[in-house]
Amino acid sequence: MQDEQNKQSKPKNHMTSFSQRIIDWQKQHGRHALPWQPKLNQPVDPYAIWVSEIMLQQTQVTAVIGYYTKFMQRFPTIAALAAATQENVLQYWSGLGYYTRARNLHAAAQTIVDDFSSVFPHNFDDIQSLAGIGRSTAAAISTFALNLPQPILDGNVKRVFARHFNIAGYTGSPKVAQQLWLIAERENPRGAENIQNAISYTQGLMDLGATLCTRTKPKCSICPVNNTCEALEQNLVKNLPTPKPRKTIPEKSLTMLVLIHQNEIMLEKRPSSGIWGGLWSLPEMGMEEIGTEVALSRFGLATEALEPLAVVQHAFSHYKLAIMPQPLLSIGGRHIVAQSNPNTRSHIWLPIQEAIAAAIPTPVRNILLSLQRNELSTNSQYR
Ligand code: ADE
Repeated sequence: MQDEQNKQSKPKNHMTSFSQRIIDWQKQHGRHALPWQPKLNQPVDPYAIWVSEIMLQQTQVTAVIGYYTKFMQRFPTIAALAAATQENVLQYWSGLGYYTRARNLHAAAQTIVDDFSSVFPHNFDDIQSLAGIGRSTAAAISTFALNLPQPILDGNVKRVFARHFNIAGYTGSPKVAQQLWLIAERENPRGAENIQNAISYTQGLMDLGATLCTRTKPKCSICPVNNTCEALEQNLVKNLPTPKPRKTIPEKSLTMLVLIHQNEIMLEKRPSSGIWGGLWSLPEMGMEEIGTEVALSRFGLATEALEPLAVVQHAFSHYKLAIMPQPLLSIGGRHIVAQSNPNTRSHIWLPIQEAIAAAIPTPVRNILLSLQRNELSTNSQYR
């Protein structure tokens, strides 16, 4: 109701185009001075924009800033990133999640070194051919860094368009996505002559989706395009975008072995593809197995079981995982007996502090942090 009153009390500004209202709004209210945005009169580094756009996929600006700054200090150029080991790249990504992004970024840096003489490509098709760069990300990089404006359509922008232009249907379906791309192309400001406008429009759409046209509690009363928003007009804001048809999300559970010897923890390298590919983790076993027996048969370690730690829950996009951490105290030392198992993975023992700082998945880090807290509170029962 309040939105409705606000809307009517404002002068109608239908005459100003959708894009111009977004541009004006962005200049005043959008996000400026983010670490990847170029300083006034400084050249733009496409590499910096590329890294930021990959980190910003599925992750909010506030969560990205710290990771971005450290990543760019460690890997300041495409060549530096290409020359690094995958493990080192994953270590700097550790905590951001969606690790395929990091592996693709690393692989694409190597492609740029090998096939594009270490220079970020300026051709839109070449950009899209790089690992991990889809049409919208290529368009954002091209607009922000290369003076070549292209329409974008990320998750936030899909929401803005679905509401403003009243597009029903799941936005991930090919039919609806095609409709939204047509809108993105139609509304994109014409002409590369004013690149600053194209940049403000692109950044403005992203900022609007992230700050006002949010999934829940959108702030329609202060939206720069509320006068022409069809969802607002027809009281459909809550219903759009149409949610993804829900399959029930399966739940899985497993036990992770926390093998402890003095102050050290054993980590196991995960296979390079699949969930948490290439990260260090804790050995896993089924809920029905017995930890001490697994430690003996898999690693040749004689152990004593301690009290299980609190269950750690982790939500993936397609299933929920409950992890029961089982601490086992090694009583024979930390020697790992070579196994006949062809799936043998590499293992290391690390002091708990170093293990926490290694390239490990977030729930594993939470397990180790909880172990560390327990250890302190029980006065070193693990020694
Ligand atoms: N999401 C994706 N790219 C972004 C950007 N450049 N600024 C803010 N949010 C974003």
